[in-house]
Amino acid sequence: MSLIKELLERIDSGTNVDAGSVRSQSTSTYTDPEQADREIELFFRDMPHCIGMSRDLPETGSFLTIDDLGTPILATRNDEGRFQAFVNSCRHRGVVVETEPRGSKRRFTCPFHAWSYDVDGTLVGLPKADHFGEVDKECLGLVPLPAEERHGLLFVHPSPGGVMDLDDLLGTWFNEEFSTWGFDDLIPINHDAYDTACNWKLAMDTFGETYHFATLHSDTLFNSFYGNVQCYEHDGHNHRMILCRREIDQMRQLPEEQWDITVAALPVYWLFPNVILMPADFGCFLVRAYPTPGEPGRHISRIDFYMKSHLAEATGPEAEEVAEFIATIAQSFARIIRDEDYAMSESQQRAANAGALPEVIFGRNEPALHHYHDTYEAKLDAAASI
Ligand code: FES
Ligand SMILES: [Fe+2]
Repeated sequence: MSLIKELLERIDSGTNVDAGSVRSQSTSTYTDPEQADREIELFFRDMPHCIGMSRDLPETGSFLTIDDLGTPILATRNDEGRFQAFVNSCRHRGVVVETEPRGSKRRFTCPFHAWSYDVDGTLVGLPKADHFGEVDKECLGLVPLPAEERHGLLFVHPSPGGVMDLDDLLGTWFNEEFSTWGFDDLIPINHDAYDTACNWKLAMDTFGETYHFATLHSDTLFNSFYGNVQCYEHDGHNHRMILCRREIDQMRQLPEEQWDITVAALPVYWLFPNVILMPADFGCFLVRAYPTPGEPGRHISRIDFYMKSHLAEATGPEAEEVAEFIATIAQSFARIIRDEDYAMSESQQRAANAGALPEVIFGRNEPALHHYHDTYEAKLDAAASI
């Protein structure tokens, strides 16, 4: 309720959230190969990562493979319904065992010599085993990775001995708020990937302010959202923005008991270091940006759209409406993020690559950008001083 009031106040007064100062940002953060390597090591190889939502693994035998975090990862749901993850490399000679991005299987068979593993990663098939002497199959299962499912989100640490501390990753505030969104009810509908010629942090930056809505998104997002109006709060290394929907104009006529944050606004959660979660009344968008190793000016954004189960599983005429809605929303998301936002990011990257502009500016109305970059820099500095 207080967030809706804050948005209304900003609309009426023509003000926006204030970072308190203007910040300059060195463009080398988008181009420096040495920094890019350190980021990959620290932020992507040495931390737990959100790889999807619970219903990405809907049943026993469901699996996902992930190749964005260095280690090839195979995530499964076993017979007890438990979420698990393994190094997706065969214990014989290291070939990637499962190459499909997702699906459902009882056995994962290596394409090289057909060693096979079950959903618990246990080695269950070894052709011509007599050539390997006394084999203790118990010791030759897929190497397990730390994995945990919380609030309907799936987390994996890409290093076998890595520390899975989700209390630290989520912090108190996200832990509480994520438990209220019902992510475990959401059904995956659409998966997309944008291979983009910009640094992964430039992709994150596009989600960090609403100042650009009136110009860049004048024909798209600006029709349904106010520009340069938002709420902003951070909690440790995470932050949350509240974007203002135009439906707020109708809602303010209603008694306050009928106000609904998902009608008035769109929350945008940034989960350090590379995840954006946008829960809405119909479901949620999950955006994850991954650096391309060896190319600071390139990254892949994975865009997943999830829908509430009662909508996704609707039947009859409602199902037709839902199908139409899905087609529209997937298309408009691509148009807004890939064709508008990321086009700007690529343009920014070209200038940064040229080295002609040593610094850029983050305004007082762009506090999330201050926080992204303060956070990245502080963590890199802290790691360098160890
Ligand atoms: S490398 Fe997998 S069976 Fe040989
Ligand atoms: Fe945008």
